[in-house]
Amino acid sequence: MRRAVCPGSFDPVTRGHLDIIGRSAKLFDEVIVAVLMNQAKQGLFDIDERLEMLRHTTKELPNVRVESFQGLLVDFCRDQGAQIVIKGLRVASDFDYELQMAQTNIRLSGVETLFMPTNPIYSFIASSLTKEVAKWGGDVSTYVPEFVERRLAEKLRAARSG
Ligand code: PNS
Repeated sequence: MRRAVCPGSFDPVTRGHLDIIGRSAKLFDEVIVAVLMNQAKQGLFDIDERLEMLRHTTKELPNVRVESFQGLLVDFCRDQGAQIVIKGLRVASDFDYELQMAQTNIRLSGVETLFMPTNPIYSFIASSLTKEVAKWGGDVSTYVPEFVERRLAEKLRAARSG
């Protein structure tokens, strides 16, 4: 069984993430999308909301499973029997940080990282920018699927009224 992990914060999942997940699903028997539960960083969406959005937007991909994890990514990979981590690279400036993480992970455990170039139509998309644009009423329909767009609007409405 060739099993790969696509890790990230996914706060929220974007069309860029889904491009990488979908292409990975064609290359591996199983792809596990792994959402980091990061105590040090409070996101806009809680973990259950991120999982729900990911599960909804990947439901047409039968060999994709969505899970959360905490601690080291390499420990999660070992527990799941996954040999490969897949990371999308949008622009050259992503590379330095991603290289450092990949080298740390191989040193810690032997888990390999494969870099996949993002489809250029998505290379400008980031979760952080999506939240910023949505917060000020901008159109994020090119950034995220409709389901996520609705969740974003609800979340921001609730934040404004509460
Ligand atoms: O979407 P992000 O925030 O860029 O994802 C970063 C993520 C979750 C892939 C990275 O922070 C991670 O792997 N965290 C788990 C902790 C870990 O294993 N750290 C050591 C490897 S650098």
